[in-house]
Amino acid sequence: MFDKLKEQPADSLLALIKAFHADPRQDKVDLGVGVYRDEQGRTPVMRAVKLAEKHLLETQDSKRYLGPEGDLTFVNLLKPIIFGAGRDLLDQIVGIQTPGGSGALRLGAELVAAANPNARVWLGTPSWPNHAPIFRSARVAVADYRFVDLEMQKIDFARVVEALSSATAGDVVLLHGCCHNPTGIDFTAVQWKQIAALLVERKLVPFIDLAYQGLGDGLEQDAEPARLILDAVDEAMVAYSCDKNFGLYRERVGALYLVSRNSRELQIADTNMASLARVNWSMPPDHGAAIVRAILESAELTEIWKTELQEMCARVNGNRAALAAAHPDLAFIALQRGLFSNLAISKETVAALRLKHGIYMAVTGRMNLAGMQPADAGAIVKALHAEGSLNAPAA
Ligand SMILES: Cc1ncc(COP(=O)(O)O)c(C=O)c1O
Repeated sequence: MFDKLKEQPADSLLALIKAFHADPRQDKVDLGVGVYRDEQGRTPVMRAVKLAEKHLLETQDSKRYLGPEGDLTFVNLLKPIIFGAGRDLLDQIVGIQTPGGSGALRLGAELVAAANPNARVWLGTPSWPNHAPIFRSARVAVADYRFVDLEMQKIDFARVVEALSSATAGDVVLLHGCCHNPTGIDFTAVQWKQIAALLVERKLVPFIDLAYQGLGDGLEQDAEPARLILDAVDEAMVAYSCDKNFGLYRERVGALYLVSRNSRELQIADTNMASLARVNWSMPPDHGAAIVRAILESAELTEIWKTELQEMCARVNGNRAALAAAHPDLAFIALQRGLFSNLAISKETVAALRLKHGIYMAVTGRMNLAGMQPADAGAIVKALHAEGSLNAPAA
């Protein structure tokens, strides 16, 4: 049987991690891997998480099965953080715990395939490399359109309007809620309003991927675009990840939420989510969601978590400011949000930056701004200049 299989390419980022660790240069800079890094280059367990784990160790008295929907207290405690406290919308939302944001996207994709096999998902590119494969493997056709001009570091909004105008009623539109991966370029408030109007006019279903809430401008600000869209449309899906904003990556913590104005349809859709979860993973892993629940159930731990998240956010934006200040042609980096920016450079330049200057980034030119220190900005600019990707830095 296995002789029929074709070899699949290895993850290029994993090879990059290995190469970085093997590099003896003291001044090397790792802008490659997509996780938060602190001043020491570590991806630490957050203090709130450690305290919640301690609490769980002392109080958890059973590991019995919870069911395909996972920990619903966790799912419900997140709702006001994502959708806004005290809003009517909260009654029009159901959710289920998933293995990370990836599990939420997969489950959402399968729900689309089950509900409307003819639906396509409209995906602006570049995007997170796993988006299109997740939808395709769930048998949902992907209609992709290039919507960011990396040379200009700008959204080509006319392309977005054109794409959504050619979509068919019932098609799904994937939107990064904040902190776009890989570009860091989010829609402006005006553009979000235009998108909301188009979704309503064309009867399209938004599928919002919210994987970095709190790492752009703050928890509330980063949720505003999603809330604006959800207020406008009749139906929507939200894939949520706690893996970045709680630093829980390998614990696989996420949730899929469905929004509908029709309570009967919402309830039916909810049963479909549960049965799809059942055949995929039966039940999601508990530990990470239990940590998030323990944090959100405690005012004290919630405060600690929010403070830590703000510090992480401030560090990333500080690095953005340092790089932007180091060269006028990099000023755009300060205007972008989240962990990533994507330079318009060739893979040969990316290789030269790594080999000659010890500056590591993804082969696409995507940089993780959390991987640097403000003091690295000068070296990064010098290297980009040496490789012909920037004019001479000002004296
Ligand atoms: C835009 C985006 N969505 C979803 C995910 C998936 O997150 P998780 O690790 O929770 O599966 C990622 C992870 O990098 C991402 O960048």
